[in-house]
Amino acid sequence: MRKKFIAGNWKMNKTPSEAAALALEISEKALDAKCDVVVCPAAVCIPGVISSVDGTNVEVGAQNVHFKENGAYTGELSAAMLTDAGVKYVIIGHSERRQYFGETDETVNLRTRTALSGGLLPIVCIGESLGEREDGIMYEVVRRQAKLAMMNISADEAAGVIIAYEPVWAIGTGKTATAEQADEVCGIIRSVMGELYGDDTAEKIRILYGGSMNASNAAELLAQPNIDGGLIGGASLKPGDFAEIIKAASV
Ligand code: 13P
Repeated sequence: MRKKFIAGNWKMNKTPSEAAALALEISEKALDAKCDVVVCPAAVCIPGVISSVDGTNVEVGAQNVHFKENGAYTGELSAAMLTDAGVKYVIIGHSERRQYFGETDETVNLRTRTALSGGLLPIVCIGESLGEREDGIMYEVVRRQAKLAMMNISADEAAGVIIAYEPVWAIGTGKTATAEQADEVCGIIRSVMGELYGDDTAEKIRILYGGSMNASNAAELLAQPNIDGGLIGGASLKPGDFAEIIKAASV
């Protein structure tokens, strides 16, 4: 049985003091959670959020990590910086980074490998655009992204990777994939993991859905056999709504 996993991607929202207060409120509401709960604030907010959730069952993730250990990479964060700060997870290859910041399947793979070797658990994002779905090539796109993200990653390491299926057309649009659509693609991702690593490992890998998941649709999405949790944007900034999603994952 895979433990459900609920992560909030706060994107470029909340100042450090606002983020610390939001994390505190979420940790109070998540006391009875039976799933993993993670919040991913902007980098500058990480220390305050770590203090807020200290001693609770909420863990902290970053929104990106660089693939070099250290050096002249102005503006970047290394895995060692993040683990030393108390960060456990890192989102990699979010579609917004692919779209606006030149992230490619190759850099996603490099970052994923660096995260794993540096002691962070990667949340690797993949998903098709609206055009790719309309052209009927979504399966191909998702299969390719999943395979390339996992290049040169061993089965042992792969078991700790979390994959988030986030169809680009569902992010921030209020348009959610239907539970059947989301489950179908998550199932395809699991079968790709089976081809790469065998069924035992594929059964251990947690696959999340992301894209306009909210308090009203979470229960149905989370009830699907191949959906092991959610990566939540907008609704993760509202403590009451995020708590409802955590509750839906705790049944
Ligand atoms: P929304 O939940 O706001 O659609 O964002 C999803 C997302 O991008 C999470 O990473």
